[in-house]
Amino acid sequence: MPLPKAELHLHIEGTLEPELAFELAARNDVQLPYGDTDALRKAYQFEDLQSFLNLYYELMAVLRTEQDFADLANAYLARAAAQGVRHAEIFFDPQAHTKRGVELGTVVEGLWRALERSQADHGISTRLIMCFLRDDSAESAMETLRAAEPYLDRITGIGLDSAEVGHPPVKFREVYEAAAALGLRRVAHAGEEGPPAYITEALDVLGVERVDHGLRCVEDPALVERLVRERVPLTLCPLSNVRLRTVDTLADHPLPAMLDAGLMCTVNSDDPAYFGGYAGDNFDAVRSALGLDRERLRELARNSFLASFLEDDEELRAR
Ligand code: HPA
Ligand code: ZN
Repeated sequence: MPLPKAELHLHIEGTLEPELAFELAARNDVQLPYGDTDALRKAYQFEDLQSFLNLYYELMAVLRTEQDFADLANAYLARAAAQGVRHAEIFFDPQAHTKRGVELGTVVEGLWRALERSQADHGISTRLIMCFLRDDSAESAMETLRAAEPYLDRITGIGLDSAEVGHPPVKFREVYEAAAALGLRRVAHAGEEGPPAYITEALDVLGVERVDHGLRCVEDPALVERLVRERVPLTLCPLSNVRLRTVDTLADHPLPAMLDAGLMCTVNSDDPAYFGGYAGDNFDAVRSALGLDRERLRELARNSFLASFLEDDEELRAR
């Protein structure tokens, strides 16, 4: 039995497996510039975040209808359930779809078709987190937030993703203030490729409750001390860090030192179709590469529920 866990850092578009990509391409009459699934898999060699994002956005062309988004989410939920995921807080990138002519309503309603049946079908409770593309403008993010207002009963929070360096959190101050006024929870990617100062800015300017990745905090001892003191959860993604060359090898990952320092770490899959594994695979990988013992793995699983946006009673049931 895999350890029950919550997944807090998961881009639904990053769960698009090559087989489903080709199935949806055929269904929607979209031409992919890859001969078959093997050829596509061979393209999964990344030098950095941007080289991954290029492919990630390119493949989204196959996602067009509500049913496509429902199929995508169902495929993820089935895989996640098999790996012990009991609760999933799922990111989606609305602007990556609206800019290619797919309406926000199509995305949200499609995902919702799968999510509203997730507890019954897969034993997984869910939340949706709408992410803004930080390499797009703040105005576009604000327009997206306004467009999402009819769907706020389905959206728990907002996040910030895509190319980090050169797009500091402060760029999105007003959007985060507006989201807070709407009662939305706030998270942001920070300190994946960007400097530790972006983590501080995400906390102080955007008011985030969790930091996605946050890995580069280890470069700033005063920041580590603060994150420990304030018990700020970090949603780490070890296999992603290896594939995007944020760390050289998994054996070099600072997770054990981060746990020893008292940081509230969680382990997640980020974009599992691209990075070689789902949540349970990430747990297995850190266990074998970093020698984490059962107690450490339990701590990571416990942290995942504590850091989630579940209410206390829901949290106990999910565990
Ligand atoms: N980082 C930033 N943006 C992203 C990622 C990531 O790992 N995955 C999908 N969008
Ligand atoms: Zn991410």
